[in-house]
Amino acid sequence: MTITTDATTPFVPPTAAEALERLGMPMIDAMRTQRAVRRLKPEPVAHDVLLPLLELSLKAPTSSNTQDWSYLVVEDPEQKARLGRLYWKLYRVFNPIVERMAKGNEQELRNMRPGQWQAEHFAEIPVFVIPCYRRNLKHKPVGRPQLSVSAFYGSVYPAVQNLLLGCRAVGLGASLQTLPIWWVPSVRKILDLPRDVRPVCIIPIGWAQGNYGPTVRRPIGEVVHLDHFGNQPFATT
Ligand SMILES: Cc1cc2nc3c(=O)[nH]c(=O)nc-3n(C[C@H](O)[C@H](O)[C@H](O)COP(=O)(O)O)c2cc1C
Repeated sequence: MTITTDATTPFVPPTAAEALERLGMPMIDAMRTQRAVRRLKPEPVAHDVLLPLLELSLKAPTSSNTQDWSYLVVEDPEQKARLGRLYWKLYRVFNPIVERMAKGNEQELRNMRPGQWQAEHFAEIPVFVIPCYRRNLKHKPVGRPQLSVSAFYGSVYPAVQNLLLGCRAVGLGASLQTLPIWWVPSVRKILDLPRDVRPVCIIPIGWAQGNYGPTVRRPIGEVVHLDHFGNQPFATT
């Protein structure tokens, strides 16, 4: 399904029943077309749509099944404005660096426009979901980080991907983002987060204004190694 914008007719969001019925979309279509959709309509996202999606997303695994997650759902205009101001400060620092790196690459510079749009309209986005996780001993990497793997962020991202797929199916635009909350002390203050609860990312959600995929990804033959790194029998060239 491709959502197109028709400026002449006002947008009426689907009813909750209509939206949730779309969850019947074949999984292969949802997975192939889910992508970062950053241009979003300002119309609200009803709790009757959002909450079932959040519930489905929490079917994801966590390390040792701790389920020490919290979802901060931010809808209050003043709270969104505070997040928007924080993001704008971070964006103004980091975006010029990213733009410099993309200099001369017209396609990459074009790809950055929806991000610019979103940074400028952040507070108008209907809802943010900020998945957080409570630190506990089980998630501490053992020894030096180079020697072991922490399950900490891995206990949040499967649920995030479930949410992104659910949003895609019902026609909501969404994306996983980290830059808007890079300055964690300010995020803690805005959201009243306890010290052991860490924000992991932020997912701006709204009815999609932009298009979905298909997404472009590196070919499987280039990514897959069989038995030993470097053995790539599935590569075509
Ligand atoms: C860990 C992680 C952090 C990300 N942080 C940001 C971010 O700060 N801002 C943003 O606009 N997109 C962010 N993204 C989204 C990626 O840029 C996006 O998924 C990627 O470019 C592929 O785009 P596509 O899914 O539309 O093909 C992040 C994605 C991941 C997985």
